[in-house]
Formats: sequence, structure tokens, C-alpha cells
Amino acid sequence: MADQAYTSSTLVVPDLNKVPRHIAIIMDGNGRWARKRFLPRMAGHARGVEAVRGTIRAAIERGVEYLTLFAFSSENWRRPAEEVSFLMQLFIKSLQKEVSRLHENGIRFRVIGDRSRFEPVLVRAIEAAEELTAKNTRLHLTIAANYGGRWDVLSALNRVLARQPGAARIDEESINAELSMNFAPEPDLFIRTGGEQRISNFLLWQLAYTEFFFTDALWPDFDGKALDQAIVSYQERERRFGRTSEQLVALAGGEVERHA
Ligand code: IPE
Ligand code: IPE
Ligand code: MG
Repeated sequence: MADQAYTSSTLVVPDLNKVPRHIAIIMDGNGRWARKRFLPRMAGHARGVEAVRGTIRAAIERGVEYLTLFAFSSENWRRPAEEVSFLMQLFIKSLQKEVSRLHENGIRFRVIGDRSRFEPVLVRAIEAAEELTAKNTRLHLTIAANYGGRWDVLSALNRVLARQPGAARIDEESINAELSMNFAPEPDLFIRTGGEQRISNFLLWQLAYTEFFFTDALWPDFDGKALDQAIVSYQERERRFGRTSEQLVALAGGEVERHA
């Protein structure tokens, strides 16, 4: 269950002048970054870890509260075995190397996704990192690994059904409470690097009203400046959630009820 209940972002209008509270990123383009340099794809993944470090630092400096990074999709097992195994080893090594630094910086670390296919050593490293950082609140850093949006929704539905056998209907709140991001508000801003414009089975349910930003920058080249571009683009938008512009002006003036 959620530590804290969040109202669906489709019901509350966030203040756009602010930095997005929750940013979710599909970190794509590592392979192409390497290929451009005549390097093996693995070199791109290794540089991708550097970009993760820089992005976490920038997110903290900008005051982002939740940063969710897609590191490995449930479909990525289809890649050559050698690459999959390299990515898993990189995950283990990065965790072991970075966890104390994450903790010192007040970062709460979580992993979402199906852990059942991970090696025990990786599962233990994840659990240790989650435990160590459990009380931190400066930035909620979530890594999506062996994650799929459909898996997330289906797992949530199955948990709801298990708790209410024979239930005639399931409501949105009970699904929200069982989703793997139940601790966070829905993403305000979604970023995908690497030029593709698709969701690739990332947070399907939670992206219902998220603002999208696509950039051709390849993930290893992503940095604080690139993050700022995405944030500026976000701040230029009008999030209407089905309302009219005029209603939003009235909302800002406090003349209309913010909810409903
Ligand atoms: C993203 O980069 C990292 C993972 C999916 C693990 P890619 O490896 O997909 O890089 P491209 O898309 O081949 O350039
Ligand atoms: C999607 O990247 C997931 C991650 C970044 C982990 P891919 O590069 O595998 O996406 P598709 O399959 O090409 O859409
Ligand atoms: Mg890719």
C-alpha cells in the first residue's frame, strides 16, 4: 500500500511555473552513441551510467522530488544474451559502487519491475540499497528494471482481485494503491532521449496526463543543460486536463474549485 495517498493528477491542476515534481525518463540511445564512435554497444551503456549520475545531481539541484528512470524493459530480454548479461553486471556494479553516495545525498532509492528473473546477487543488492535509503526524502530515485507497464497494471489488478475475491467491480483508487509507483504522484514530465517517439511499455497507466518531451540527444550525452531544456518546454505548456484555458485562468484566481 502507498505510504501516502495521492490524488490523481487528472483532478488537481499543478502550478506550471514550478519545476515538475516528478520526471520520468526513457534513457535511450546508448547503442547508437557507441556505434557513432566505432565502439561496442557496451561502451555506450557504461557511459549511460555517467549520464544517470549527472541527471540525478541536476534533478536534485533543480528541486525535482521524484526521478524515475527506465533502465531495462521487460522486452529487453530479447537482446543478445551477451548484452543482457553485461547490462545486469553493470547494474550490480553501479549499485555496489554508488549506493553509499546516494545515501549520503539523501536519496531514497527504489527499483520497480519484476525481480523474479534477476540473479540473487542483484536482488540482494537492490534490497540492501532500498533498506539503507528507506528514510531519505531529498529525492525519490526509482529505477525501472525488467519493468513493463502492462505487467504493472495486470499485477495491480490481480492483487486487488486477490484481496476482494468475487468483487463485482474494481475502482481506480484500489488500482492506484497497488501499482508499483503507488508512493509517488503521477509523472508531470516524461522525457525520451534517442529520437524515438514511443512509450515502449513504460508507465502506461501513470502517463495518462503527463507532458511529453522527446529529444534527439543520445542518452550518454544527456546532462543538466538538456534537463533544463525539457523543464523549460514543460513550463511553457498549459495543462488543461480537459478544461478550457479560461477555466484555468479562473482557477489560478481562485474563483473556481481546483478539484472536480
Ligand atoms: C538504452 O539504449 C538502454 C537500454 C535499453 C538498456 P539502447 O541500448 O536502446 O540504445 P540504442 O537504441 O540501440 O541506440
Ligand atoms: C526502452 O528502450 C527501454 C529502456 C530505455 C530501458 P529500447 O531502446 O529497448 O526501446 P524500443 O524497444 O526500441 O522501443
Ligand atoms: Mg534503444
